[in-house]
Amino acid sequence: MNIRKLSVPVNPVKRVFLALESWFNLSFGEQWNPMYHLGTLSFFLFWVILVTGIYLFIPFHGSINGAYASVEYMTHEQWYAAGVMRSLHRYASDAVVVTVCLHMVKEFASGHYQGFRWFSWVTGIPNLWMVVTLGITGYWLVWDELAQYVAIGSARLMDAIPLLSGAMTRNFVAGEMTDRFFILIEFLHLLGQPLILLFMLWFHVKRLSNVKINPPRGLAVGTLLALTALSLLKPAVSHAPADLATVPQVIQLDWFYLNIYPLLDRWTEGQAWILSLAVTWLITLLPWLPPKKDGAAAVVDLEHCNGCELCFDDCPYDAISVQARTDGRKFEKEIVVIPELCAACGICAGACPSSNPFRSRNRELKTGIDMPQLPVDRMRTITDEAIDSLTGELKILVYGCEHGFNVNRLDDSATRGIRLICSGMLPPTLVEYALYKGADGVMVAGCRYNDCHYRFGNRWLKQRFDGKRKPVLRGRADRRRIHVHGAAETDGREIQRELEQFRVQLAELKQAVPGDVVLDAGGES
Ligand code: HEM
Ligand code: SF4
Ligand code: SF4
Repeated sequence: MNIRKLSVPVNPVKRVFLALESWFNLSFGEQWNPMYHLGTLSFFLFWVILVTGIYLFIPFHGSINGAYASVEYMTHEQWYAAGVMRSLHRYASDAVVVTVCLHMVKEFASGHYQGFRWFSWVTGIPNLWMVVTLGITGYWLVWDELAQYVAIGSARLMDAIPLLSGAMTRNFVAGEMTDRFFILIEFLHLLGQPLILLFMLWFHVKRLSNVKINPPRGLAVGTLLALTALSLLKPAVSHAPADLATVPQVIQLDWFYLNIYPLLDRWTEGQAWILSLAVTWLITLLPWLPPKKDGAAAVVDLEHCNGCELCFDDCPYDAISVQARTDGRKFEKEIVVIPELCAACGICAGACPSSNPFRSRNRELKTGIDMPQLPVDRMRTITDEAIDSLTGELKILVYGCEHGFNVNRLDDSATRGIRLICSGMLPPTLVEYALYKGADGVMVAGCRYNDCHYRFGNRWLKQRFDGKRKPVLRGRADRRRIHVHGAAETDGREIQRELEQFRVQLAELKQAVPGDVVLDAGGES
């Protein structure tokens, strides 16, 4: 097979992420790969910041005169406890900026920001703002030269807002900063901003189902250990105490949080605001800018629905609701699709027990929930046509998806690729059907395992095949003739290797069992 024809154009940012993912897969393993857990890792870092922050609050002296001395005491006198906590607080805060930004760029590069995803995208942006401003008020509390620099820069920025003009600067340039104002910043940092951030994070993931907010335990422990090691090797320290009568000279800036401040040396406050707001607005509007693709929402056919709720359980976007039966049939429940939440992924069609191709073999196959753009009946027809078109010794069908490796590139006389919207829309009975109709083997190559475009499609598929999730792949399907391997657009060589190994395995099987293994015709349901 020509390897060159397997390489595909992928946007450069996504290509970088895919390469990073592959690299981390080698060093961390798929399960602990941080690139697959950027959102949950951000949550975890937030918990670390919260717990260390609560610890630091106890010895912290929350007044303008006592703050610096108390932080110094923690850093030097109690370096083994409060000092380490301070460093952990600092480094986890820096790390969260990195993970959130990577999470954002990755979602963008993967096209996860348009259509039904606008909600997750748009609600993510205030989180980023809140994380950064939380860090800024944190630096303020140390009341050292860096805090002074941040305080003056922030006052300039705030005073440029017409409603506040002059109000901020008045709090401290006239000689000293008032305790009242310092306590206000303290209140914001310790209570106000974390609570708002928590609420916004809940809002951010509200529309997704089965949301996990904790990363795998190994990744969490590893992250904590790495941060602790860094805290011991390079403890966070303060600058000299703040002195409003002087201009601080040498400032070691935290670029993760304070990158806007050096701009104020060259730009006016107004220009800095315009830049920040323009970037924010541009990012916010991205979901409505071209290119835009929206598939048709799933459609329910109550005549073929028994209200089993499997589609409801598997929908990754909470786009299905369950209600009392309205059509007078003997079943208790029925389901309703909420079109504006529907990702048009088709995972529900793969979950529906009525999507069984052995049913109504000479008539159109109707199912309980289906995709107008690729109905289950059409999937059965494509499967039939693909098998009929193969002439090779060992006939292999490869089901793939629109977002992973393009399986059509594997086509030859013995191999036919069939692209679905998502591998999760493949009903297990269709695999059984393909083997029964004459395919020697079926391979499924959706997205990489932890990186499904529709969150859970390939995972649910694997669980169905492993008998761990309904509808399960029935016992009569010969597992040796089925192979599942996730692959991204750039994984041509890997998928080709997998296919060749599978072909060898099938050939051995065929030799061991001369003649085709004949399966039952499958049950009508
Ligand atoms: C503190 C900040 C943030 C945290 C802790 C966070 C966390 C998460 C988590 C846990 C998920 C669910 C992932 C899943 O289960 O599939 C998620 C989804 C998402 N996030 Fe964030 N996020 C943050 C900021 C952002 C930002 C700044 C953006 C972009 C502007 C963003 C865009 C998205 C999108 C588009 C999804 C949906 C992904 C999908 O539909 O598959 N997030 N986030
Ligand atoms: S197509 Fe996907 S998002 Fe829409 S209802 Fe089905 S499973 Fe849910
Ligand atoms: S999976 Fe099929 S039968 Fe079950 S509730 Fe959904 S549409 Fe109805």
